[in-house]
Amino acid sequence: MWTRQRLMELIESKLKGHRLIMVSNREPYIHRFVGDRILCEQPASGLAIALDPIMRACGGVWIAHGSGDADHDFVDGEDRVRVPPDAPAFTLRRVWLSKELETRYYYGLANQGLWPLCHIVFKRPTFNPEDWEAYREVNRIFANAVLDETEDAPALVFIQDFHFALLPRMLREKSPNLLIAQFWHIPWPNPEVFRGFPWKEELIDGMLGNDLLGFHLRIHCQNFLDTVDCTLEARADRERFEITRYGKSTMVRPFPISIDFEDHAREVKSVEAGDDVQRWHREIGLRREFVGIGIDRIDYTKGIPERFRALDRLLTAYPDYREHLVFVQIGVPSRSSIPAYKALEEEIEALCEEINSRWSAGPWRPVVFLKQHFSQSRMIALHCLSDFCVVSSLHDGMNLVAKEYVASRRDEDGVLILSRFAGASRELTDAILVNPFNEEELAEAMRTALLMPLEERKKRMQRMRATVLENNIYRWTGKIISTLLRFEAPVADQIYAELFAKSNH
Ligand code: F6P
Repeated sequence: MWTRQRLMELIESKLKGHRLIMVSNREPYIHRFVGDRILCEQPASGLAIALDPIMRACGGVWIAHGSGDADHDFVDGEDRVRVPPDAPAFTLRRVWLSKELETRYYYGLANQGLWPLCHIVFKRPTFNPEDWEAYREVNRIFANAVLDETEDAPALVFIQDFHFALLPRMLREKSPNLLIAQFWHIPWPNPEVFRGFPWKEELIDGMLGNDLLGFHLRIHCQNFLDTVDCTLEARADRERFEITRYGKSTMVRPFPISIDFEDHAREVKSVEAGDDVQRWHREIGLRREFVGIGIDRIDYTKGIPERFRALDRLLTAYPDYREHLVFVQIGVPSRSSIPAYKALEEEIEALCEEINSRWSAGPWRPVVFLKQHFSQSRMIALHCLSDFCVVSSLHDGMNLVAKEYVASRRDEDGVLILSRFAGASRELTDAILVNPFNEEELAEAMRTALLMPLEERKKRMQRMRATVLENNIYRWTGKIISTLLRFEAPVADQIYAELFAKSNH
């Protein structure tokens, strides 16, 4: 079993003398003005929440875009601040971007170009040369920040996501001895889809600056190898999952990301002891109804309208659920300045109103749509009071909401309805797996969840909890580091078996 302790031992023994430099666009802590107060918040980002415990355990520097309006007030002369604020464990180095750069690099190339290109949800990507130029420039700004932090000393640079495809090559050229790994948190499409990207040679060459490149799933690795094959001069070895270019090789491997199960379970205990569950009951006016939930960023990849329409079908086909089922949807506003996201918010609100006006009776409404971010304890309380949770992504790299839901259910109750097109469905096979494009199937899945006997719910939930407990975030990081250092898992496991045997004597 991978634990925080075991990961720390790995880092101490094998990465001795290397600094750990994490790079992501989204920062793990944001300082914001709220009226005349300043709040320090964790953003609604699976990536930031998953990696925070790693940095707490290992220390090091996390370089990210300082996007909060009060961020400038909390850094020293070198743009650094120790975080988390209540128990500082690592350094956050903030990188500043002008509004123009942010608009073109983040909202433009990353989220209107690469995001729809990599998620196959039939949303046309936009490719704009000025956005690409800004993307390149931002990658260079981050490269300078990394080089400034490493100062030629040995370091492991761990780059996150599709915002930084060019960064690995930029670093490799300046500092050939760095250990560089990148994890791509979204799917990688097949070469047919990718060939429309106008700057594909430069983008892929940038990624081949990595020593190790990780995706959630094996199919994404295979797609990447196929894309390299069709795009540039490089040798793609399909047996070893390795690509060689300019005599230097990049390993390409699947590492399904996860959460800190045990830490989450501790939080669940404190939620159980508090009054968050009752607070939801009071605020939403729940009586003795069945409760279904959905928790997502408002993003067109998440399949929120599809699940609302499925609920509508359920109420049409099975009148018994009218006045007895409430679906609570939390939608965290995201990337709202992009027209497609704004339009989606409006579509969801209109749909919610339409369904509620069709079915409302007395004080009962079938859909409660809450367009805001809630604290982790409030989300956990919602997990705990629900009968089922719907994750109906049309396409998703992993989806950590599914894993959080499972980790919250200490009572081993609750049913997860999970899209086959979310990476999590490869591990959580005891969920009710659905094709979210098929709204009838989704409606039937809700009914199956509501009819499932307690014994079966428990059996399924126990198995899913065992999976998430074992495949936790420490395992994810441990496997990445072990692979990067080129001792394959079985060898690594032997080393740890010895280490533990020693520490137990
Ligand atoms: O899932 C992909 C991803 O980029 C994550 O890495 C991140 O947590 C999430 O989308 C939210 O994105 P953003 O940081 O753009 O709000």
